[in-house]
Amino acid sequence: MFKNFWYAIQHGSKVTAEPSKLRVMGQDLVLWRNESGEPVVQSDICVHRGGSLAGGWVERGANGHSCVVCPYHGWEYDDSGACVKIPAAGPEAKIPGKARTDTYPSLERYGFVWAFLGDLSAQERPPMPELPGLEQAAEARSAGYRMVEGEFVWNANIERVIENGADIAHAPFVHAGSFGNPDRPEVPDHEIVEDWSTDGEFLRSIFAEVDLDPPPASGMWKYIRKSAERPPVHTKVGIMFPYTSMLQVSLPLGQIRIWTAHVPIDENTTASRWIAARNFFTKPWQVALLRADADTYKRTMKIFYEDQATVEAQKPELVPFDLAGELNVRSDAISLAFRRWRASAYDRGWGIEPHQILTTDDRRTATVIPSPARKDNADLANAWVLKEVETHAALKSRRDRAGSGGAPASESEPSEETANG
Ligand code: FES
Ligand SMILES: [Fe+2]
Repeated sequence: MFKNFWYAIQHGSKVTAEPSKLRVMGQDLVLWRNESGEPVVQSDICVHRGGSLAGGWVERGANGHSCVVCPYHGWEYDDSGACVKIPAAGPEAKIPGKARTDTYPSLERYGFVWAFLGDLSAQERPPMPELPGLEQAAEARSAGYRMVEGEFVWNANIERVIENGADIAHAPFVHAGSFGNPDRPEVPDHEIVEDWSTDGEFLRSIFAEVDLDPPPASGMWKYIRKSAERPPVHTKVGIMFPYTSMLQVSLPLGQIRIWTAHVPIDENTTASRWIAARNFFTKPWQVALLRADADTYKRTMKIFYEDQATVEAQKPELVPFDLAGELNVRSDAISLAFRRWRASAYDRGWGIEPHQILTTDDRRTATVIPSPARKDNADLANAWVLKEVETHAALKSRRDRAGSGGAPASESEPSEETANG
């Protein structure tokens, strides 16, 4: 997992004026909305005595604006992360510059709250993923889409989960009970389409499109389609980096697209927050509308349940760095593209290690994902009480030093390994 990307971390509908806690990459965040209704994403840890800001509340603070109030001693943090009130110090006291919490650039788009979890300045950041067809809820509705959302939590690492989300060849086996056809397991030849940022710096997405043979109709589809007329199902899958996947299935009746924002809760746990949009059965006056919504929810969750046992049983639990560590065939092109992208993100030094506060490595040190103000604002150079989460490279060299006296690892080790694959 990486710092310095835009993450779709939560459904917009779940973020309210009440602060809520969300664990991402082993770090606790607090999410709330300011007086303009804009989402605020901050480190959940109060720098005073480590209180959880999500256990507090939002109110108009000493500066006249919305603040999240720590429930322990009432310190008020505004939406820039600055503490504006320390009640025990009295109204005249000067607030120390170090009284602040890391605050991440955030916005709401496509039905999700996005946060830039990292410390790059605005000009240096990789672009936000685009989720075509999943415009703001109102726009998408006027474009004829009806949306249903849900969440699925896996006991599996994010990389296993996202590779599964863009894997075509497993459908006839794992999804024989829903959209896969076990009698037609061949994956037709297809191209992988890559989309790069205009400056050529960042791979933004990879997509593949294939025509698959449909399975026999079941459920309510039996009544809608006669089994005699069964044209191929045009299917599009893709990954929008870092961790959003899309499955688009074109049926004779219309189209269904499932976008999933995969969120690494920690190394072993992943939340898949999805929005399914269909452009059929969408008119409010249709008697079938709610039934169709419930059907969309049930069918989408069924796909996750079908995948669960397989993905949670994969070994090793983390996708190997060495491309030769698993045997690749032609139909694995998307997963290989994902692994190359991953190597490039490690090469940039953005890999982070979430487990130091999850295991007992160091239970006396709370860490945070560094926010842009740590670099952007020279006045705040010494304003940060909490340490930054450890990078992959730093952890590796610390372990190497602690080990048999071997040389420290280089930053780019993961891709050197893949280069041999
Ligand atoms: S721990 Fe938050 S105000 Fe004391
Ligand atoms: Fe699947």
